[in-house]
Amino acid sequence: MIDHLDEDYLRQALEHDVRIGLTATPKWLPPKWFYDEAGGELFSAITRLPEYYPTRRELDILRRHVRDIAALSRADTLVELGSGTSEKTVLLLDALTSEGTLLAYLPVDVDVVTLEAAAARLAVRYPQLDLRPVRADFERHLALLPRPGRRMVAFLGGTIGNLPPAAREVFLKELRATLRPGETLLLGTDLVKDVGRLVAAYDDALGVTADFNRNVLRVLNRELAADFRPEAFDHVVLYDEDNEWIEMRLRATRTMRIAIRALGLTVVVRAGEDIRTEISAKFREEGLAAELTRAGFAVARRYTDPAGDYALTLAIAAHPVS
Ligand code: AVJ
Repeated sequence: MIDHLDEDYLRQALEHDVRIGLTATPKWLPPKWFYDEAGGELFSAITRLPEYYPTRRELDILRRHVRDIAALSRADTLVELGSGTSEKTVLLLDALTSEGTLLAYLPVDVDVVTLEAAAARLAVRYPQLDLRPVRADFERHLALLPRPGRRMVAFLGGTIGNLPPAAREVFLKELRATLRPGETLLLGTDLVKDVGRLVAAYDDALGVTADFNRNVLRVLNRELAADFRPEAFDHVVLYDEDNEWIEMRLRATRTMRIAIRALGLTVVVRAGEDIRTEISAKFREEGLAAELTRAGFAVARRYTDPAGDYALTLAIAAHPVS
């Protein structure tokens, strides 16, 4: 495994994020810290909830169009950012294999366990494939990714929506800079729709998403010797109409003084005060196309489900205009 992260790096990133976020007004925490083992399992459970449509929609769209995607990209190397579950990966690998172009698969993730499990499963199914797991933070280590072959970078699940617009612009430009003209990006995005359905997708009846949201406090308790009481926070979901994004927050039910011992930091959270834990942007066709164009991509195809809930966009790294 190619490893760009060590325990020290992750530790420092967590400490930095928590110090910045919890001393800011309003308070916030980045969503990447939801995903310890328990958080990964809770997210998996979310993808099976009736209210949470994005995963199912994406899989349907991929099933329907994966041959077209493979034929257009003619990639010999699939790079998958935030690889996670391999169900979608298998569809792409099968299609690229039939296309006759596939040589290598590079799953990129921050989590070793996820990477090794995926590699082990796929090695059995694709004995000829050059499997090269890369442990990296895709927001920081894009430039370090290996560069052989003709690549397609898959960034699925709608995770790009977790980045605020400015960070998204930086990310897309950096990604474009690591690609050669003609190489492709397959991008999954959730779309703007009826607010009721959007909110329900993040505020399910069983309370699985609420538990997932509170999990970030359990991560801080364990990793930073903090003393949050997760049950003293309400799960709050709202749709920001101006920014067209979902926000998840944790709202304090009473005033609490929280010690984060590993940081030597005490924070006061007042009754009714929110900690923002996630934004999940919802996209429109024109807006996304404009962002991709600004970053130096040309949209080759846009695939969506019949209801128009979700989109997969195949974008090609454009030739720089001189
Ligand atoms: C995996 C980041 C795409 O934003 O919809 C699911 C995470 N958060 N329910 C999303 C999530 C709450 C998910 N992403």
